[in-house]
Amino acid sequence: MTFKRLTKFIAAGALAATVAVPFMTSAAARADSLTIGFSQIGSESGWRAAETKVAKIEAEKRGINLKIADAQQKQENQIKAIRSFIAQGVDAIFLAPVVATGWDTVLGEAKQANIPVVLLDRNIDTKDDGLYLTAVTSDQVYEGKVAGEWLAKQTGGKCAIVELQGTVGSSPAINRKKGFEEAISSHPDMKITRSQSGDFTRAGGKEVMESFIKATDGGKGICAVYAHNDDMMIGAIQAMKEAGLKPGKDILTVSIDSVPDMFKAMADGDADATVELSPNMAGPAYDAIAAFKKDGTVPKKWIQTPSTLYLPDTAAAEYAKRKDMY
Ligand code: AHR
Repeated sequence: MTFKRLTKFIAAGALAATVAVPFMTSAAARADSLTIGFSQIGSESGWRAAETKVAKIEAEKRGINLKIADAQQKQENQIKAIRSFIAQGVDAIFLAPVVATGWDTVLGEAKQANIPVVLLDRNIDTKDDGLYLTAVTSDQVYEGKVAGEWLAKQTGGKCAIVELQGTVGSSPAINRKKGFEEAISSHPDMKITRSQSGDFTRAGGKEVMESFIKATDGGKGICAVYAHNDDMMIGAIQAMKEAGLKPGKDILTVSIDSVPDMFKAMADGDADATVELSPNMAGPAYDAIAAFKKDGTVPKKWIQTPSTLYLPDTAAAEYAKRKDMY
């Protein structure tokens, strides 16, 4: 090709591109060119693994180049990942913050670099909410309330409860505790008698429940277990069974997430209630970023995902629907 013909070819290509651009108006078309860095906490629970999987699927649907950094539960790794995303010049950063505090400096750096940040599934404590564009989360206080109200109704407002808390300092651990305590506060005969963190893991839930059973001479007097997530409850169910107790009957259970294994436990009669947390946090976040990048549309500060209570009556059907999603 001569230089003249090459110039003509490039010019024709440029014209075609100019003509084509007005037709690429949908958020999906625009999202096509986005690179997003996602600082994920790790893989402490079935729910977390599902969130990561859904984030990949939803990115692929939209043609987004997604870079995931697994922080292995450490805030310092998340801070490093955010700095690396800034250095790479990504279009946006998604952050699932392992704990609520300590983000101002690094998020200030992202802001300085003009990179919008979206919080996924957990909140942060900050005086400056301009450090992030939006947060896609559930109402975690409400989740705790739903769990507490269900238990109050189930027990006629009389119950000694043991609590398995999530990761210390994380927003779901703080808020789910708060919501549950608010719900039971109007029932003087409902009390949390023991409470400890199981770090949102099955192993943690099992270990803490074993210690509760030991400390109460085989679980005597325990009316219910409230766990801040299903994985800890699944560990606790195992501990109860190993101690010769019947979970779901001798000791009631209520937890949060609605992972397939919890539906299976409910269908098998080993668990009583779970509050759903959608694993699709990334989908709404991609759409918010795509619109923001396209024409500056500023999303709502909080994109709230629903929290639905599930009971054993629908557990088998829900399990069948969800088992392959995770
Ligand atoms: O932040 C959401 C919580 O984190 C989920 O309920 C829990 O399973 C996960 O570890």
